[in-house]
Amino acid sequence: MARKTIVAGNWKMNMTPTQTAELIETLKPLVVSDYSDVVLCVPAIDIPAAVAAAKGSNIEIGAENLYFEDKGAYTGEISADMLLDAGAKYVIIGHSERREYFGETDETVNKKVLKAIEKGLTPIICCGETLTQREQGITIDWVRQQIKIAFQNVTADQAKATVIAYEPIWAIGTGKTATSDQAEEVCGAIRQCIKEVYGDAVAEEIRIQYGGSVNAGNAAELFAKPDIDGGLVGGASLKPDFSKIVNYK
Ligand code: PGA
Repeated sequence: MARKTIVAGNWKMNMTPTQTAELIETLKPLVVSDYSDVVLCVPAIDIPAAVAAAKGSNIEIGAENLYFEDKGAYTGEISADMLLDAGAKYVIIGHSERREYFGETDETVNKKVLKAIEKGLTPIICCGETLTQREQGITIDWVRQQIKIAFQNVTADQAKATVIAYEPIWAIGTGKTATSDQAEEVCGAIRQCIKEVYGDAVAEEIRIQYGGSVNAGNAAELFAKPDIDGGLVGGASLKPDFSKIVNYK
């Protein structure tokens, strides 16, 4: 079964609601694609403006985080219901920046994945190693562990509709992209891990992105690899050039 490419922008802490509307108006006619699904994951405050601007286009809107409780006394947090009501369809979970600066662990990632799935948001589940871990030769062990914990208590049917983003931390925002062979090696290992846990059908269906300094110049080579089904794109998703990543062929 051929998997459809999924290219998702991760805007991080950039763009005001006003700027959001402007950029999406610019992108809308450019990101039309026969072979890529297009998602923009934006700051929560930008979601209503993004949904309004993207209306009638092929762009789906996602969030960059959620909290795993339904509601209550969690000052500053945002629930799955809030995101859904605002029109988000996807949510990034466990980005390395959230793990590094905001104390997220594999366990909180798992809780958030379960909540997103329960509510009907598609999680984009992030994993990836540091440069030290790569040099220690533990990349694949590390990423397998992240994936196995992230998917605790997720059923096979639920798992196949999720998206995984492999993002080596040393490649994020550094301009140091993993080579397509390095990226394929780990994305292939992730698919193998999913196969061991859930079997062939889920492993064939689940989409695995590469992220880390993806740009218009390297997307085609990366996405041509058999186990790489698109990208999670930070810096390059803030510019009209994002459309060249979406239309990489
Ligand atoms: P980058 O970010 O494309 O700017 O390296 C990717 C990400 O953090 O998702």
